[in-house]
Amino acid sequence: MRHFLKETDFSRAEMAAIFKSAAALKKGRASKRVPKPLSEQSWGLIFFKKSTRTRVSFQVGVWELGGHPLVLNADDLQLTRGETEADTARVLSRFLHGVVIRSFGHETLETFVKEGSVPVVNALSDFLHPCQSYTDLFTMAERWAKKGGDLMGSLKGKTLAFFGDTACNMANSLALAGAYAGMKVVLCGPKGFEPTKKFTDLLKSYKLEKQVRFTTDPADAAKGADVLYTDVWVSMGMEGDEKRRIKQMRPYTVTKKLLDIAGKNALFMHCLPAHAGLEVTQQVLDDKRSIVYDQAENRLHTQKAILSALAACNKKAKRK
Ligand code: CP
Ligand code: NVA
Repeated sequence: MRHFLKETDFSRAEMAAIFKSAAALKKGRASKRVPKPLSEQSWGLIFFKKSTRTRVSFQVGVWELGGHPLVLNADDLQLTRGETEADTARVLSRFLHGVVIRSFGHETLETFVKEGSVPVVNALSDFLHPCQSYTDLFTMAERWAKKGGDLMGSLKGKTLAFFGDTACNMANSLALAGAYAGMKVVLCGPKGFEPTKKFTDLLKSYKLEKQVRFTTDPADAAKGADVLYTDVWVSMGMEGDEKRRIKQMRPYTVTKKLLDIAGKNALFMHCLPAHAGLEVTQQVLDDKRSIVYDQAENRLHTQKAILSALAACNKKAKRK
């Protein structure tokens, strides 16, 4: 059975096909003859953390693919009264055809894979946010590929610079997805927030470490970058460390000055939610180089493509 916990769970060819399919689903959304690969299926969307985009885009997306989405807040399940994740995974697998999970530890997702018997999709863990990174690469490719041209191919050789908390899930996911697709990735943040060993080991296991570098110098990172990207300085679950993070990350705010170093054709991206005045200025969010709402919209199309690809792989595996 195939799952989607990390960017490399799909081959590069499958990733390219997902971008193509996302573009087709986006274009054909209004059509009545869209494919319904999740028809007669019920999918659980389990949230251990807050969400606006992920929750709504998956709920709408599963429904548009013909399935029935059930949003399950972990707080409302017996999980918070001591039932184990393993038992929850075993029981939910008897009812559902797949689960999309937003967790704290990445291990929760791995437990659902191990103990459950339905496909698992990572809707963000403390380690990775692959649905967002796939969406982001698709959103860049929409800008860079020639009309009707090779979306994945348009990413090759481009440079993404990420500013702020370079040990967070988004930094990891963008570095992994970007390098896997042939991009160069610069992670720029304060000392003490460098990529973790767990993450660099993962990069090395796919021989991608040479495409990713870390710097503490924002001007150095912005120079020559095709995309400047940032994320919140205080990720969900890190609230206890807020003061120290804000103090140390202040020099890494994405300002117009920094975006101008990258140039007039550079793009600004943010997975949202944004905190204007902290990781990015309002001026940059409003700049015409900012494509944050295209990113948000594309969550829907890309995730529909991901769910469709998983459904196709798992159907094929079942027939064998
Ligand atoms: N970008 C993102 O995952 O947003 P939500 O936290 O609102 O789902
Ligand atoms: N790094 C952020 C991403 C939110 C989409 C968090 O984990 O809170």
